[in-house]
Amino acid sequence: MAKKLFIQTYGCQMNVYDSDRMADVLAPLGYRRTDRPDDADMVILNTCHIREKAAEKVYSELGRLRQLKDRPPAQGRPLILAVAGCVAQAEGEEMLRRAPYVDMVFGPQTYHRLPRMVAEIEAGGAGVVDNEFPAEVKFDHLPDGDGGTAAAAFLTVQEGCDKFCTFCVVPYTRGGEYSRPATGVLAEARRMASHGVREITLLGQNVNNYHGEAPDGGEWSLGRLIKELAEVNGIERLRYTTSYPADMDEDLIGAHRDVPALMPFLHLPVQSGSDRILKAMNRRHTADDYRHLVARIRAARPDIGLSSDFIVGFPGETEDDFALTMALIEEVSFVQAYSFKYSPRPGTPAADATDQVPDTLKSERLAEMQALLNSQQREFNEACVGRVMPVLLERMGTKAGQLGGRSPYMQAVQVAADADQLNDILALRIIAAHANSLTAVIEAPGEAAIADPQSDEIGRLQA
Ligand code: 5AD
Ligand code: SF4
Repeated sequence: MAKKLFIQTYGCQMNVYDSDRMADVLAPLGYRRTDRPDDADMVILNTCHIREKAAEKVYSELGRLRQLKDRPPAQGRPLILAVAGCVAQAEGEEMLRRAPYVDMVFGPQTYHRLPRMVAEIEAGGAGVVDNEFPAEVKFDHLPDGDGGTAAAAFLTVQEGCDKFCTFCVVPYTRGGEYSRPATGVLAEARRMASHGVREITLLGQNVNNYHGEAPDGGEWSLGRLIKELAEVNGIERLRYTTSYPADMDEDLIGAHRDVPALMPFLHLPVQSGSDRILKAMNRRHTADDYRHLVARIRAARPDIGLSSDFIVGFPGETEDDFALTMALIEEVSFVQAYSFKYSPRPGTPAADATDQVPDTLKSERLAEMQALLNSQQREFNEACVGRVMPVLLERMGTKAGQLGGRSPYMQAVQVAADADQLNDILALRIIAAHANSLTAVIEAPGEAAIADPQSDEIGRLQA
């Protein structure tokens, strides 16, 4: 009888990818995924550590799940309770001390060892912790997954970070930068395509610094990898996230011009518009570097939709610094963006700074920034009304009789469509804009060709 596996995923897209791969690793042990924790034989919390109180939230969730450990065991088997991801990496043994009923604690780089950990628990072991950064690379030890059943999928090509921005925990939780060899990435993409995947989002904390081993022993940049992936039969749309401004190279900018399958959207976090703050953050770019970069990217792909991340209230941020960030936002104009109050992460340099910004001030600045970002997003959405765009209908819609997908610019789109049009790429005419989404009607009944990047229809968007 199949055992049931429930995975709760928090945080970024890479955690979504990791959760799927954990399920792949556990499948040969007889585990099948369920969406209900209460009848699961194993519950994994795949956690995120990026912002405040992450660990506390995990402990309170564990407190709730503890009750499941006390229920009569399903089919005579006790529940295995596990914590994975970045909080597990950061807490390690401490997690077992505070929550001794947890069976397994493991970080993002060791989940290929799950069969060994499970065997240890089943043999009566109490509390296994594996938060090493092992010498072996997990990707070499993961089984081939089936890629799930969705038409849009994530594929990790790069992981970890060596940049050490002074606010960020990632270099400590995900480890140093690593790029997967291109052969493995291409094989995974082909496998996904054979299972019906049509759109792949390439993932990495510094994905645009990808420099993986090429099939001929040389090295490929992300731009080159994208060109090769675009040739994989069945893969019609490509995206990538997240990028570091100083690592945008000519190859990748060229791919935005030359590869029609590469969607015209780029998430390019700038964090701040003040050079003083950028320096304190240990970012390797100035605000003007970012402006020039945006100009080069727009020269290659005029209609590109830009997104970013911003932190307000970084230690020492003055009204003038904040005004510089607002000016940068006004100037660049983003189709969407994320903004956060600075949150001191223990163990990172900025957490020890003595000139922390009071929370009330952070809240004020955040509200002001979000008002501007929301108005830019709304303006862009409204400018799309009347346009025709190819959309992959990748999910059931929010209302009955609707399907949902993403525009080339990552906007959520809802359209009245038959369920059998799920996973089709259709030409949709946008008829209404909302704060966070678009409503569309089907323009052409057949499948849409990938829009020509330089076509009038799309190219006029931001002109
Ligand atoms: N405080 C606030 N925001 C943060 N981010 C990362 N670390 C912190 C922090 N300590 C934001 C950055 C990053 C995004 C993923 O999360 O903007 O780009
Ligand atoms: Fe964190 Fe900076 Fe690395 Fe991004 S580039 S993961 S913000 S340290």
